[in-house]
Amino acid sequence: MKLTVFNGSTRGSKGNSEILINWFKEGFLKDTSGDVNVHYIKDQDKHPDMIEILKRSETVLLAFPLYTDAMPGIVKKFIDKLADYQGSMSGKSLLFLVHSGFPEACHSRGVERYLKKLTAKLGADYLGTIVKGGSEGLRIMPQMMTRKSRLLFNQIGEQFAGTKSLDPGLLKKLASPERLSPFSRGVYRFMSLIGLNNLYWNGMLKKNGAYKNRFNTPYV
Ligand SMILES: Cc1cc2nc3c(=O)[nH]c(=O)nc-3n(C[C@H](O)[C@H](O)[C@H](O)COP(=O)(O)O)c2cc1C
Repeated sequence: MKLTVFNGSTRGSKGNSEILINWFKEGFLKDTSGDVNVHYIKDQDKHPDMIEILKRSETVLLAFPLYTDAMPGIVKKFIDKLADYQGSMSGKSLLFLVHSGFPEACHSRGVERYLKKLTAKLGADYLGTIVKGGSEGLRIMPQMMTRKSRLLFNQIGEQFAGTKSLDPGLLKKLASPERLSPFSRGVYRFMSLIGLNNLYWNGMLKKNGAYKNRFNTPYV
């Protein structure tokens, strides 16, 4: 099966989306007749070419990180460019991969519903959405800490190559926890009280010279 992948991360090939796509690919390409081409939505000047590629593809995976409970702006911009093709994508199959910084899969369920509607509007077949929480640390975690998730992605990819469908049991395992347990919520609350929760993100803000602007409200 030929699979066209659109990576919607603003970090392009250096992000967590790339890691997850590669894990999926590892399983998918166990079928030696498999073929995967990845395109980066962050290359905005290439959007017209990407739309042509999408129009020619039979099976398409759109992967992106959750940004403020939805998709990154560049992904929305790309989707908006498909407005002229409503109802014209019959025979095409779309599947999605949405992953989030927060560990709970429930954060991605809203955008999952949107993606299902989007596919229907385009007239394509909806094959499902792979949801994974807790992705921000993937880029820096040692391999042994990500082994279980990698294996699940391998299995999902391999199963997809064989059946052109996503296994609901594997998707459920990957999406765990759907919601944090009361105990884990207590631990998070405690960490946020002592300021541990913000340590990583504050570090990122400082690295990018944006820490002093963190409470800005430009649209007020
Ligand atoms: C601007 C911005 C907004 C984000 N919004 C959310 C969010 O609403 N919920 C969430 O769980 N994670 C959120 N995240 C975290 C990303 O989903 C997470 O870091 C992801 O692993 C980034 O993937 P990438 O490296 O492929 O870009 C946000 C990150 C950024 C930079």
